[in-house]
Amino acid sequence: MLVLGIESSCDETSAAVVEDGRKIHSNIVFSQIQSHSVFGGVVPEIACREHVRAIDSIVAEAMKQANVTEKEVDAIAVSTQPGLVGALLIGISFAKSLAAVWKKPLVSVDHLYGHMYSALMESEAPLPVISLLVSGGHTAIYLTKSFTEHLLLGSTLDDASGEAFDKVSKILELGYPGGPIIDARSKKGKRDAVKFQRPMLDDPSLDFSFSGIKTYVLYYVHGQDMKGDRRKFSEQEMSDLCASFQEAVVDVLVRKTIKACRKTNVHTVALSGGVAANSRLREMLKEQCDRNGLQLLTAPMALCGDNAAMIAGLGYHLFKQGTVSDLYLDAVPTKNYRSKSKKSSASEHRQ
Ligand code: KG4
Ligand code: ZN
Repeated sequence: MLVLGIESSCDETSAAVVEDGRKIHSNIVFSQIQSHSVFGGVVPEIACREHVRAIDSIVAEAMKQANVTEKEVDAIAVSTQPGLVGALLIGISFAKSLAAVWKKPLVSVDHLYGHMYSALMESEAPLPVISLLVSGGHTAIYLTKSFTEHLLLGSTLDDASGEAFDKVSKILELGYPGGPIIDARSKKGKRDAVKFQRPMLDDPSLDFSFSGIKTYVLYYVHGQDMKGDRRKFSEQEMSDLCASFQEAVVDVLVRKTIKACRKTNVHTVALSGGVAANSRLREMLKEQCDRNGLQLLTAPMALCGDNAAMIAGLGYHLFKQGTVSDLYLDAVPTKNYRSKSKKSSASEHRQ
């Protein structure tokens, strides 16, 4: 069964053709980074304009690369939540139009569930797993019971981990998006050069907080009163600061994930989202999973950032379950998004 997936929730326009939820025939991702980087973050109006400009050709390219015709497509899956409302609506409107004209079923996919699916797509590992979802807009730990059932165990109380990378990079004037830049720079730096706190580690919950780490960098650069001149850093000092910041974020993410496994007695971890591309996170999580006898599933690098293959892949399972939408399908912006999975205490869900 072939599903055409469409993704436009933020600053990537993407379309993919996936067979039976697993085999990726095409996955075209058009990143708008160049248009946003001058502003140091995503500008929603620009994102919308870029999606409108790109979506037609990106979908056509995905179909061409997969070498399939509209007749061979069994369903059309589209990201509907959470995200920038205008951006989501462009993908949704396009998907609806195709569904109406091609007379195909339309499947609504939760973008975050899509990310979590990306770590499970190639695996035969049995569920449940503990999903660590780390992206630019979200950072959370879920108990994943099935591809469509994720129980929220903990989440960030303020900034998402990717957001912290992006904001720190902006403070350090290193560029956008911050994650890959800080990741690369950290390779040349000392991880213990600057002493960062590990927020929320002593807290019994599985929640996170990253805004304090970001503020620490701000004061470190501009002084506590924010009145002094911007501190000058040598290349080595800058790399040390990046490596120490990254280590603090990664350390908290990894420890809370291992704690979630202990609390739930689950023995598999699934890592997904844009920050899952972080080399130190992949390395430390693997080390700690090995040490604790846990299996680690990581989303392939090509599926860490926003992409339509994860949407088409999960769309296949939803379609098989009979979850099909009509043409009234609408977007749910991030501010109105409430995960369908209610937050609950991990201990209630011991296996
Ligand atoms: O999942 P994603 O593409 O978009 C959202 O749904 O938010 O994640 C984008 C985020 C950005 O904040 C970016 O800086 C971060 O992922 N990111 C990274 C790395 N690559 C991308 N963060 C840390 N290390 C990386 N290598
Ligand atoms: Zn995303």
